[in-house]
Amino acid sequence: MKKEFPKGFRWGTATASFQIEGATTADGRGESIWDRFAATPGKILTGETGDPACESYYRYKEDVALMKKIGANAYRFSIAWPRIIPDGDGAINEKGLAYYSNLVDELLAAGIEPFVTLYHWDLPQALQDKGGWANRATIDAFLRYTETVVEKLGDRVKNWMTHNEPWCISILSNEIGAHAPGLRDTRTALAVAHNLLVSHGRAVPLIRARCPDAKVGIVLNFAPAQPATDSPEDAAAVQLHHEKFNLWFLDPITGRGYPKGAWSAYGDAVPEILDGDMGVMTAPIDFLGVNFYSRSIIHDESSPRNAKIINRRNPRNMMARGWEVYPKTLADLLTWLHSDYNLPELVVTENGAMYDDVVWNGEVHDLARIEYIKAHISVLPDVIEKGVPLTGYFCWSLMDNFEWAQGTRDRFGLIYVDVETQERIIKDSGKWFARVAAANAVVD
Ligand code: FCB
Repeated sequence: MKKEFPKGFRWGTATASFQIEGATTADGRGESIWDRFAATPGKILTGETGDPACESYYRYKEDVALMKKIGANAYRFSIAWPRIIPDGDGAINEKGLAYYSNLVDELLAAGIEPFVTLYHWDLPQALQDKGGWANRATIDAFLRYTETVVEKLGDRVKNWMTHNEPWCISILSNEIGAHAPGLRDTRTALAVAHNLLVSHGRAVPLIRARCPDAKVGIVLNFAPAQPATDSPEDAAAVQLHHEKFNLWFLDPITGRGYPKGAWSAYGDAVPEILDGDMGVMTAPIDFLGVNFYSRSIIHDESSPRNAKIINRRNPRNMMARGWEVYPKTLADLLTWLHSDYNLPELVVTENGAMYDDVVWNGEVHDLARIEYIKAHISVLPDVIEKGVPLTGYFCWSLMDNFEWAQGTRDRFGLIYVDVETQERIIKDSGKWFARVAAANAVVD
């Protein structure tokens, strides 16, 4: 198997503002839904909040230097909307803009290409108080925020992503209630999903207007599913899961509309569609960001609605989550996206693993993480050779950080962060990543 990558392939790491920045009240930053959620007892496993996280707001120069050390030539990060427009739709906070402008300069000086996600979950709380993403007015607020950011950074940032994982923003946060704002209402969740798609479609031309050479995309999370048995019930459950999880966003963006089976399964919880909405969503994108961690194996115990995801077949190295390690699915996913949707470019915008890392004499020997990443990048050269236009791989994450509802318990970083002292230690996986990036090939 050929293990080399095409010239110019991006070897990046990814983070999100709320997960690393800390400094949640510094320089005029407004409250976000994650500040409110984390401050609510019982919502975060460890009882932590977004402060201090990794204090990257103060330590960004050190963090860019570390990126350089681990050989990354690209960095995917997100902008905190409440730093830019603290109450969501009011006054603009120049200090917030300055932070990201400085970060971009630091990256470019280090030879690291910035990839910016506009919305990675930290909605200004003031907008949530008015209904959040379920309120169509949030679409306009998002467009104004987007224009403000692109105006400031568009001379230097050429890669833009509108939203990160709309499934998590809508279903996980508003139907399942595990993430901020913690609601449990399917109709609200689907209204959120719909408005996210409209906001994405309207943002795409707006970004291009302010940054003509921009490449614009969106990041979707995929959990391809397989049935546990040959039963027709399991087959039906897999299909429904696929439509709800994998197609609900992809199909509208690519002009196919909402998937029919899931639409009817949702009954009267489906969103109201205004004239023009479905057309707006199909604004052509330059690339699709693909987040992949694991596949799902589905077993239906009575009806597709009661189907359970049971991943018991392979090593479940990600202990606390039970996510299965199954890299073949990444190859199949990218191949399917290319053959069925023919998108101009695909980028793996997140892939990585969570382990209980231990510091031993000042080092972290996270061999299991190396194995996980190696297994996943090993499937990519073949995929590229078959014609899939994959241009980059971003490891989640640059460093251990505030892993949402799990707090800092779940470590995903190539760099270890001591939560007490803020000391950073490049893990063995980070050192290995540097060799991969330098060789532009899978290495041992
Ligand atoms: C993804 C999120 C990212 C991180 C990883 C582990 O769903 O986009 O912020 O939490 O999972």
